[in-house]
Amino acid sequence: MNIEQHPRYPLTFGPSPLQHLKRLTQHLGGAEIWAKREDVSSGLAYGGNKIRKLEYIVPDILASGADTLVSIGGYQSNHTRQVAAVAAHLGLKARLVQEKWVPWDDPTNDRVGNILLSRMMGADSRLDDAGFDIGIRDSWKEALAEVEDAGGTPYPIPAGASEHRLGGLGFANWAFEVAAQEKELGLTFDTIVVCTVTGSTHAGMIAGFAALEDLTGVRRRILGIDASATLAKTRDQVARIARNTAALIELGRDLRDDEIQVLEGWAGELYGLPVDSTMEAMALGAQLEAMITDPVYEGKSLAGLIDLVSSGDIPKDSTVLYAHLGGQPAINAYHSLWP
Ligand SMILES: Cc1ncc(COP(=O)(O)O)c(C=O)c1O
Repeated sequence: MNIEQHPRYPLTFGPSPLQHLKRLTQHLGGAEIWAKREDVSSGLAYGGNKIRKLEYIVPDILASGADTLVSIGGYQSNHTRQVAAVAAHLGLKARLVQEKWVPWDDPTNDRVGNILLSRMMGADSRLDDAGFDIGIRDSWKEALAEVEDAGGTPYPIPAGASEHRLGGLGFANWAFEVAAQEKELGLTFDTIVVCTVTGSTHAGMIAGFAALEDLTGVRRRILGIDASATLAKTRDQVARIARNTAALIELGRDLRDDEIQVLEGWAGELYGLPVDSTMEAMALGAQLEAMITDPVYEGKSLAGLIDLVSSGDIPKDSTVLYAHLGGQPAINAYHSLWP
C-alpha cells in the first residue's frame, strides 16, 4: 500500500473532528454513534466532502497550467460550490454548469444556498434545464469547449469529482485519518455509514479501509446509503472507482464483493426529494444533537443509520461512525419543508 506517492495540497484545517452523538445513542438505546464532521473541517465556503477529493486533484490542476475549473452539478450542488471555493482560493476562474437535477418548486431554488455562494465567489454559474444524471454530460463538454474557444485553458472536473482519475484518493486518506484518531481515543469503529451518489467518497473509503484491514486485520463494514435513487448506476460507479483507487494506492489485491455495499431504502423515488424517513432523521439530528443535515444527502444517510441501528442490523454493541459530508447550504432552497 502506498498513498504517500500521491501529492496532496492541504485545504482542510487538519483532521476533521470526531463527535460522540451521546443523545442520539441514548435515544436509539445503542449502538455507540459518533460523527466525523467534514462540514466543519475546512475554511473554504462551509467545506464538505469535495474539499477532501480536491486536495488530491489540485496538484494536477496546478501542473496543468489551467486557468478555469469547469464543473457540473444540480442547481443546489455542494460540489460546484466547493469547486468555486477552490478556484477562488487558487486565484483561478470557475465555469459551472448547474442542471435542474431536482423537480423542486421552491421559487428561490436556483438563487439561494449553494448557487448564491458560488456566484459570490465569482464563479460563472449558468443554469441548464437537463435532469439528474451522475454520468458525463454534453453540457459539461460544451462548457469546456467554450472556455477553450474564448482563449482560456480549462481543467475538467466531472460531477462530484468522481469520474476523475484521482477522485477517490481523498477518502482513502480519510480512512488513515480515522485510524489515527481511533488510536488516540482508544476505540475502533466497526461500521462506517456514508451517503453515496456519484460514488467516489464511499469508493475511496472502501479502498482505504481495505488497505488498513490488510495492515491491521481489522475488518469493518463500510455501508454506503444510496441517495441517488438510481441505485444500479451508483453501485457500478462505486465499484469501479473503488477498484481504480485501490490500484492507485497499490492495495495489491482485488476488492471482495462484500467490501462494496451500497444499500437502498432511504433515497425515495427521486434524487433530491426528501421522504418521511429523511424528514424524521433531519429533525432527530437537529433536536437531539443540534447536528444539521440536508434533505438531499445527509438526511438520507442519517435515516439509514437510524433504521439499521433500530432494526439490529447494526448490533447494539457496535461502535458506528457516521460520515457527515456537509451539504447544509442547500437547506435554504428547501425552506418550505419547515413552513
Ligand atoms: C453533502 C453531500 N453528501 C454526500 C454526497 C455524496 O458524495 P459522492 O457524490 O461522492 O457519492 C455529496 C455529493 O454528491 C454531498 O454534497
